[in-house]
Amino acid sequence: MRRIVPVSGRTVETPTTVTLRFEDARPAAPGQFVMLWIPGDDEIPMSLSYVGSSKGVTVKVMGPTSRHIQEIAPGTLLGVRGPYGNAFELTPHRVLVVAGGSGAAVLAPAAEALRARGGEVEVALGATRASELLFEGRFAAMGATVHPATDDGSRGARGFVTELVGPLLARGRFDAIWTCGPEVMMQKVIAAAQGTGVPVVCSVERWMKCGLGLCDACALGPYHVCVDGPVFPAERLGAVPEFGRTKHDAAGRRVPG
Ligand SMILES: Cc1cc2nc3c(=O)[nH]c(=O)nc-3n(C[C@H](O)[C@H](O)[C@H](O)COP(=O)(O)OP(=O)(O)OC[C@H]3O[C@@H](n4cnc5c(N)ncnc54)[C@H](O)[C@@H]3O)c2cc1C
Ligand code: FES
Repeated sequence: MRRIVPVSGRTVETPTTVTLRFEDARPAAPGQFVMLWIPGDDEIPMSLSYVGSSKGVTVKVMGPTSRHIQEIAPGTLLGVRGPYGNAFELTPHRVLVVAGGSGAAVLAPAAEALRARGGEVEVALGATRASELLFEGRFAAMGATVHPATDDGSRGARGFVTELVGPLLARGRFDAIWTCGPEVMMQKVIAAAQGTGVPVVCSVERWMKCGLGLCDACALGPYHVCVDGPVFPAERLGAVPEFGRTKHDAAGRRVPG
């Protein structure tokens, strides 16, 4: 059932990323997403970057709808369905978070929930450049150790965030890795963890329409990402040939992932 909620706050996080807050008492867990409808425009899936009664979505410009969402002012009415999908299990004690770009939007509330339970969090936080590092201050404020990496070297290590994973695993003891970002990035995280015994959990994005497991838009091998995910243990993704290679577009055609 879609609810209509007014936007209660708007924060510019990076030059391309904005957080919109709205009040919604429906319970939600870190990892879940909502279908967000902008009256007069499209409905798109967005992870919840804040999961309390004051919820939030953190939106990066990808195309017309996300650009429209970014321009929305407080007081504007949005349609919200959900929350849908599964959530991160908060059972590990010490987690390495590996976030690429807007992937930090779904990982920050999960890390916050783990910290609230007494868990420990280290974050490898990647972006193209320093100004695009998302939620660096939020991770630091929750008491996580943050290791930034930027493609151009403008902050932290120069290069891909995945290059931090091997050295961090070699010098720290982790019960799990949580990762979200481009699939090629998550594949590199899985490869870096191979043989270490540290399980990897990925948050996956696929084209979505219904969010309810009915339309097949989000098919990924034998799974519907909207109901079987979006949070998947890496060993389930290992058996899915299209992970990191292809995905379906709006028309259901298979395109490079
Ligand atoms: C479970 C889930 C959680 C997501 N969480 C976030 C988030 O927290 N922050 C964020 O910035 N983005 C998130 N996305 C991606 C976001 O939904 C797309 O970037 C957005 O739909 C782009 O729409 P557009 O019209 O602006 O761009 P378009 O130009 O229409 O599309 C640009 C790209 O966005 C993707 N996309 C477009 N429509 C959809 C759709 N209905 N379903 C899935 N992907 C689509 C496609 O890869 C497409 O190539 C999430 C996607 C999923 C599936
Ligand atoms: S979005 Fe329709 S089945 Fe997943």
